[in-house]
Amino acid sequence: MKIRKLPEKLLHGGDYNPDQWLDCPEVLEEDIRLMKEAHVNCVSLGIFAWGKLEPEEGRYELDWLGGIIDRLYDNGISTILATPTGAMPHWLQENYEEVRQVLSNGIRKLPGGRHNFCPSSPVMRKKMQGIDRALSKKFGKHPGVIAWHLSNEYAGGAGDNGDGACYCPLCQANFRKWLKERYHTLDNLNHAWWNSFWSNDITDWEQIHAPSTIGESTLDGLKLDWRRFVSDQILDFCKEERDVVREFSDRPVVTNLMGAFYPLDYFKWAKELDIVSLDNYPFWHYMEDESLMASASSFAHTLMRSLKKQPYLLMESVPSAVQWGPKNTLKRPGMHALSSLQAIACGSDSVQYFQWRKGRGGSEKYHGAVVDHKNGGNTRVFRDVADLGERLEDIASRVLRTCNRPRAAIVFDWENRWAVDGTAAVTNPFDYTHRWQRYYRAFWDLGMDVDIINMDDPLEGYSLIVAPYNYMYRGDYADRVRKFTAGGGTYVTTCWSGEVDESSLCFTGKHPLSDVLGIRTEEIDVMPDYVHNRVICGDKAYDIQDLCALVHAEAAEVLGTYEKDFYAGYPAVTVNRYGEGKAYFIASANEEPFYRDFLKMVAEETGTGCTLKVSGELPKGVTVNERRGEEENDSLWFVQNFNAGETAVVFEDTYRDIETGEEVSGECVMKGYQCLILKKI
Ligand code: GAL
Repeated sequence: MKIRKLPEKLLHGGDYNPDQWLDCPEVLEEDIRLMKEAHVNCVSLGIFAWGKLEPEEGRYELDWLGGIIDRLYDNGISTILATPTGAMPHWLQENYEEVRQVLSNGIRKLPGGRHNFCPSSPVMRKKMQGIDRALSKKFGKHPGVIAWHLSNEYAGGAGDNGDGACYCPLCQANFRKWLKERYHTLDNLNHAWWNSFWSNDITDWEQIHAPSTIGESTLDGLKLDWRRFVSDQILDFCKEERDVVREFSDRPVVTNLMGAFYPLDYFKWAKELDIVSLDNYPFWHYMEDESLMASASSFAHTLMRSLKKQPYLLMESVPSAVQWGPKNTLKRPGMHALSSLQAIACGSDSVQYFQWRKGRGGSEKYHGAVVDHKNGGNTRVFRDVADLGERLEDIASRVLRTCNRPRAAIVFDWENRWAVDGTAAVTNPFDYTHRWQRYYRAFWDLGMDVDIINMDDPLEGYSLIVAPYNYMYRGDYADRVRKFTAGGGTYVTTCWSGEVDESSLCFTGKHPLSDVLGIRTEEIDVMPDYVHNRVICGDKAYDIQDLCALVHAEAAEVLGTYEKDFYAGYPAVTVNRYGEGKAYFIASANEEPFYRDFLKMVAEETGTGCTLKVSGELPKGVTVNERRGEEENDSLWFVQNFNAGETAVVFEDTYRDIETGEEVSGECVMKGYQCLILKKI
């Protein structure tokens, strides 16, 4: 089936829950009026409305929803229609125990809550098919319906083990089936899991149980395969929802992903979806230095664009403050526009909110919304949203059909993440994401667009690939890196890389890329807090954070050495020429300035630095993203100032501000939280 494209507009709107207001027609009237005032052109509808859509088993009441979709459509507002499986109605949870998840200790959950169905339950699948099919049949071709919003934040409840899993007998049986497909024989499985250790040899598939704190919780191979299975099993449910709505509808399917959400391998998920979408809730203003939060938020956006290397949708964000944070600080004036344009800068074609209107009750009644309990459209938040909506309308024709196309990539890999964090070694936990983000932060500081790729993605087309803490090498990864580097690419990797294969079995002999890196790896030290050491690179010295790998340069040139301890003088940074390219190795985990200086050097060498011409480095807190079009002069640069105060940027070329039409060159003093959108003259 040919899937329809989204309409050509930057979507602006968000989660709309008229199901909470059906007995207040005047509120529903006011909604339409206010939406138009706020330049809202799209809402997500029916996300948690299963109880209202099927109040009794098998009795569907869809007319109220039809009325709302029609009215929105008549007023120029599109609908992203949800399948309502994010929250199960009570009749379903009470009548069929199997739809409720089982905890890792074997206890079945009580009814209530959301994001908590068992993905293996045949009853749940049947009931999902019933409601999804009914919705698709009735609304799948409605001119106002532009896309499907499958369920809501799959595995969002994340379960008692933080893995989003259900541990019921049905899921355990599916796990065994999944393992049989992967390993075919128990011999293969016993080898992959190294089961001679602690007498773990499995002699019957039925002896396999999911990891549990009251059972087996230490076996690396088991834990890793369980995580893979859980992500696949929930994806299997999502695919079934997709296939059911496609029976009657050619609208694209999305589901709201949650950035680097631990339990689900979104690289795999994205392949099954037509468009990627993101829910993003950074805690703005928590720290005086906003750049840490801004770069973390940029990571989520960039990851979403990178999953399909095409524009994605920001599906949820908060117009003011959430209600669930430890401190729910309001967005300062300017931050709403800046944080929303950050999404556009990173490749989003929408700014959508949770939620349109605050409910009067329920746990989210104080969650930020476009429309508050009081004052209708006469609020600061509403005006901020309306102003942004107008800006989006204004820039839409220039932004649509452009996307970020960087020549640098950074490897972020879910399976690697599960493997490295699940292994007892070095530091427990290892905290891959946190350590990894120090590298991403340097890209952000330097205003360098970067794709985030996983280990299965093609490496061709990039000039620079950075692979921090790439502990696990799957399949032919090492060979592909070899080819990339030999062909002229620059590869950067770090300590705690190339340690294990896809089964988490250690490589023996030597590091799989020892020829490319030109080094021999040996031990890895973790400095206690009272010990301080530095990396000396020429006339510069950088503090080390904690990890110090002890490596020996064989073919590689040494660019930096350890200052102290029994390994003083050992290589801490090396580079090796390999074929037409180069491979760098960073042996320690360092403090921030190291990453910035290092990346600046390799960016200059590879021509992958910030594409906007500024004098010197970008000021702290300011970053740049470039969305490119088909033609060279279609590029748009989003210059974002995350500082609360004025910040001067010195432009070395002449640009035009596409919103004001003014020329921008030389020194430009940006206002606090300002975002400039520039085009080259
Ligand atoms: C999201 C969820 C929404 C709402 C929001 C509150 O994770 O999808 O339904 O709960 O959080 O911040």
